[in-house]
Amino acid sequence: MSKNDASGDKIQVRRYSGSARINHWLVAISFVVLLLSGASLFHPSLFGLTALFGGGEMTRWLHPWAGVVLAVSFLGLFLRFFVANLPEFTDFVWVARLKHVLSGKEDYLPEVGKYNAGQKFVFWSQTVFVVVMLVTGIGLWEPGLATVEQWLGFKATIDQRRLAAVIHAACAVLAIAVWVIHVYAVIWVRGTLSAMTRGSVSGGWAWRHHRKWLRKEVSKDGSVKQQPAE
Ligand code: HEM
Repeated sequence: MSKNDASGDKIQVRRYSGSARINHWLVAISFVVLLLSGASLFHPSLFGLTALFGGGEMTRWLHPWAGVVLAVSFLGLFLRFFVANLPEFTDFVWVARLKHVLSGKEDYLPEVGKYNAGQKFVFWSQTVFVVVMLVTGIGLWEPGLATVEQWLGFKATIDQRRLAAVIHAACAVLAIAVWVIHVYAVIWVRGTLSAMTRGSVSGGWAWRHHRKWLRKEVSKDGSVKQQPAE
């Protein structure tokens, strides 16, 4: 590492494959479509947003199908990333020292693997929200509900469907709040976005924020590359 640093060349560490990035952006795009179409159906004052999707009828059709795209693509993210998001002892230490995280004093924090406790929180909370919104969303979607009722041989009552609507909306608000935290963290921790655009991060970023992960990557062949200095 030090030899490379001295040469002035940039060290790049591979973080995501092309397919993982496509998978992530499919989740992100479907999430934004759901947010805007869902908001437009939620309250009459936001109905104007349906113009983005070609009117009310189109929006009513699009919203549940975008939900299916989100659920299927999120399942892909889940299967790719769940192992790296399993909790570890150091996550509790990281949370206990949150004030050092917020003041950027990484020296007081334990070495972090591929994801820190904050990222793991985003991962697991979105997992729960996607599942709950899928189940309650089907309860509010005539064709989807009719199919599920036929499969399971039961008929949802009006009260159950009303409850589904309340849970669906509450979960959407929480999922949006967690998404805002996620995007804010990406902007706040400079150098993070390139992980999901180019698929790699700088050696300095990896050393500062995910040192345990970097040590592992260095021991693998080909994931840490040197790029000529500009
Ligand atoms: C539209 C705005 C979004 C942006 C700019 C964005 C950006 C990013 C970036 C840069 C990373 C890489 C972080 C790293 O490797 O350290 C990432 C990871 C990730 N993102 Fe997003 N994202 C967005 C939306 C979403 C949405 C809507 C979801 C889920 C509902 C999501 C779920 C994830 C997950 C699960 C990871 C992997 C981190 C982990 O597993 O803990 N992202 N995102």
